[in-house]
Amino acid sequence: MNRIETVREYIDAVLLNIPSAAKRRSGYLHLYGVSQACALIAMKRNENIELATIAGMLHDIYYYSTLDANDHAQKGAIMAREILTSLQCFTGDEINMICTAIYHHSNKGDRFSPFDEVLIDADVMQHCLYNPLFDVAEHEKQRYEKLQLEFGLA
Ligand SMILES: [Fe+2]
Repeated sequence: MNRIETVREYIDAVLLNIPSAAKRRSGYLHLYGVSQACALIAMKRNENIELATIAGMLHDIYYYSTLDANDHAQKGAIMAREILTSLQCFTGDEINMICTAIYHHSNKGDRFSPFDEVLIDADVMQHCLYNPLFDVAEHEKQRYEKLQLEFGLA
């Protein structure tokens, strides 16, 4: 099994445990949607596709494990570190890369390392493409416009 599928098994088990069907649905859409957007953006920017895909799957793991959104990025980075360490197939450097990106992902207004930026932009892309007819959230407008330019859509 490749490492993306190893992490997916873990995520699937967490999502299946969510009692509310609506929250479960949002978890599948959002975590796997962000994960696919991470793959796309990482391909475009020559960043690590495998680790970006995994960061996308794990980025809101704290929220979908606890349904508590408070400090979910920081708490999620700690939780992701525990999960990735327990899976025993990632190096310390790989775990640091993924968890640093998760830690920063809620700060849409700041700029971070190119790898961290993949996850932040993927989060915006999933929110905006879930229903392209909905209004774009104010705090995501600037990043969404840049993404449209980057992908030749504007
Ligand atoms: Fe998210």
